[in-house]
Order: sequence, then C-alpha cells, then structure tokens
Amino acid sequence: MPATSAFTHRLTDQVAQFHLRFPIESDDLDQDEEWCEVRTEGERAWKRLRFHDYYEVYRVPGLYEALFYQCLKCCSPYRVVHLLDDVLRDDPHNVEDLRVLDLGAGNGMVGQELRNIGVPRIVGVDIIPEAMEATFRDRPGVYDDYVIADMTDLDEGNRERLRDADPNCLTTVAALGYGDVPTDAFVEAYNLIDTPGWLAFNIKENFLDDMEDHTGFAGLIRRLMRQRRIEVQAYRRYCHRLSIHGEPLFYVAMVARKLKGV
Ligand SMILES: C[S@@+](CC[C@H](N)C(=O)[O-])C[C@H]1O[C@@H](n2cnc3c(N)ncnc32)[C@H](O)[C@@H]1O
Repeated sequence: MPATSAFTHRLTDQVAQFHLRFPIESDDLDQDEEWCEVRTEGERAWKRLRFHDYYEVYRVPGLYEALFYQCLKCCSPYRVVHLLDDVLRDDPHNVEDLRVLDLGAGNGMVGQELRNIGVPRIVGVDIIPEAMEATFRDRPGVYDDYVIADMTDLDEGNRERLRDADPNCLTTVAALGYGDVPTDAFVEAYNLIDTPGWLAFNIKENFLDDMEDHTGFAGLIRRLMRQRRIEVQAYRRYCHRLSIHGEPLFYVAMVARKLKGV
C-alpha cells in the first residue's frame, strides 16, 4: 500500500511554499514518532519526514517554522521567554543583565524571542551542526556564540567556551526528554550557570508526573525543589502545539531561580 493512501485531504495543509499532509492511521504514535509528508510548491513528489529527524527539517529554509509553528500552532519559544520576562518584571532583576545559555537551541527561535525582550548576551548549544547552520542562515546575529556539542558528553574545550560566556540564565525549550536532552545534559548545563541564576524551560506535563515519567525529569525537578536548589517562581500549563490529529499537547513552562548547584 503506498504511504499516500493513509492520508486524508481534511488534514492536508498548505503553509507558505509547503504542502503538508499527515497520516490518519497513526493513533498509537508517540510525539517523537510523528511524521508527515511534505511537498514544496512546484515539486511533484512527496517526501516523508519524521518530526524528530531535525537535521532534515532544518536543512530546508522555512520548513521548521511552517510545520511546527504555522501548521501545528507551536508557541513555546514565545510562551517560555515571556514567562521569564514576566517574572523578571516582578523581581529586582533586569532583562538587560541576563547572559543566557540556550540548550537545544535549534534554528534559533528561542534566541530570537530572547533578543525581542532585550536579552543582550546569548550562547546557543545544539548537538547537530544543521541546527547551527540553519540559525546562521535564517537568524544571523541572534547568538553571540553557538556551540555544537552533545551536553551529555561535553569536552573540556567546549565546557571552557561555555564557561567563558559566564551565563546566568539557562533556557531550554521543546528539548527535554523524548530522546533529546536527558537529565544529565540538563544538569551539566544547570551547573554552568551562575549561582544565583535563572532557569526557564518547558517540559511535557507527563514528564513531571512520577507515575507516567520515564525520562527522570519528574524526580530531578522534585529533588531540586525539595533540596531548595531551585525556587520555582512561575509554573504554567499550556498547549505547546497540536498533535498530527489536531489534539492539544500540554506542556508546563517553568521559571525558577537557581539557588545552589547539583
Ligand atoms: C524540538 S528542537 C527545539 C529547538 C528550539 N529550542 C525551539 O524551541 O524551536 C530540540 C533541539 O534539541 C537538540 N538536542 C537534542 N539532544 C541534545 C543534546 N544532548 N545536547 C544539545 N542539544 C540537543 C536537537 O538537536 C534539537 O535541535
């Protein structure tokens, strides 16, 4: 059976120069298994794309934005960064004093939002070179530095480079769990930022639930709170994006003060 027979026109969308269509016989797909087919205006052939194959998505200018932001209504870079901005307004801290380490920076959408609220210094980190290449291509100048590294296995050179940026705030958006950033990479980045410092991140709501979490984040966040290593200043449940079936996928955005290292 050709892959295209599993599609319905109801779920076919055109965003900018892309035609996107989503499988309907895929009820049991978890978020990291979701896929679609894409055809660029003027092309005849559909190309299958697994959402988590970021290197393929980033290579095509505008595809990440069209698929996740316009079609599936992702709003997380805006929501997380504006929650941070909101908290800072109630605190004697100025956004102009932030030096951000953006973990899982991708093609720079979080960096762009951080610039929009006035953050003066931002360093991005991502594990795949395609993310940095897409950032330089589509959002040049958004990051002061961009490091390609696996945060689970950071070498001394890259650790020094990140330390030199002297970050006092960690952001990580749409990057925790699901085979992306694991707990040890989060802890590595957490320990690179100043104490006291700031954290602003989002995470799928199930990953904060001990009964459902298999990523370790539920335990880690609870431990950080119980040991007073972090003080949560904002917690907001919201729709991160729609699934390929149009269902809301709920995440939690959190802003916390880092009080001690791990
Ligand atoms: C869904 S994208 C989110 C990109 C961006 N933060 C945004 O909100 O648009 C997740 C990113 O995390 C990166 N990533 C996954 N594992 C990583 C790791 N161990 N260290 C650094 N980056 C990682 C991926 O390459 C990908 O670019």
